[in-house]
Amino acid sequence: MQQTFTIAETWDLLDRARAEGLRIGLVPTMGFLHQGHASLIRASAAENDLTLTTIFVNPLQFAADEDLSDYPRDLERDFALCEQAGANIVLTPSVDEMYPLPILTEVAVNDLSSAMEGAQRPTHFAGVTTVVAKLFNIGGRCRAYFGEKDYQQLAIVRRMALDLNFPVEVIGCPIIREANGLAMSSRNTYLSPEEFDAAGVLNRSLKSAVALAEAGETDVEVVRRHIIDMIETESAVSSPDYVAIVDAATLQPIERMAGDVRIILAAQVGRPRLLDNIGVTLPA
Ligand code: PAJ
Repeated sequence: MQQTFTIAETWDLLDRARAEGLRIGLVPTMGFLHQGHASLIRASAAENDLTLTTIFVNPLQFAADEDLSDYPRDLERDFALCEQAGANIVLTPSVDEMYPLPILTEVAVNDLSSAMEGAQRPTHFAGVTTVVAKLFNIGGRCRAYFGEKDYQQLAIVRRMALDLNFPVEVIGCPIIREANGLAMSSRNTYLSPEEFDAAGVLNRSLKSAVALAEAGETDVEVVRRHIIDMIETESAVSSPDYVAIVDAATLQPIERMAGDVRIILAAQVGRPRLLDNIGVTLPA
């Protein structure tokens, strides 16, 4: 496994690999890697000949009052995890390498970016899509792996690639969880042991909602209320910022529990805001 610091040296390596006919996989991350990230690297290593993982804490996607300066970092551990999972190149660019000048160009995906996380964090997704556009230009023709953990982000990136003809096939990968159901996240490191236990209610509430829908409940409001009520039984977990029940493909709110449905929520647990979601396919 090779570490690169610059875009130019990464392009050189990828150009050479492509000239040899190798297929490239790209796994963008912000580091402090866990088994969720490892699953993306493994998926890429299984489906491609060369996997490029990028580790870059992207300032553009953090608002002024968010955790950019103390976002958790541990590069040493990250390299070990990348190597073990099968990455071949790990690009760790500096902020100056990625943004040598104050950036004047923004890539934004309308509509899909305005609800849910976009409503909570109005500048967040433009920061994500701008950096992912740059990473796609660094990766070139490739497959790129994203987690369903950030379901809205995955849908937005997928649409961006389609709208702007990036030569990138965006691939969504399942959510990797802790034993108590909590979706793995770099920000889980902020949780106390009690908060970590309590946060298991997020996934439990989603699974219970799916069971309710599968048992025939078609009223979206009843299902949403069920989730909120369950979460509110845990005093360490705040009332959710949102519980969105949407069409899995369009992310538009639905009126009846039917078809391909995604239930997406966010709630504050102690210091971090945690995200989770679940999919269910119901009779039309
Ligand atoms: P980060 O939060 O580091 O996540 C990197 C990738 O790992 C994302 O695609 C995310 O969905 C995926 N991931 C995180 N936790 C996961 C889990 N428990 N199971 C499966 N996949 C998981 O998302 C970002 O970074 C940034 O916004 C980025 C796309 C890198 C742009 O800066």
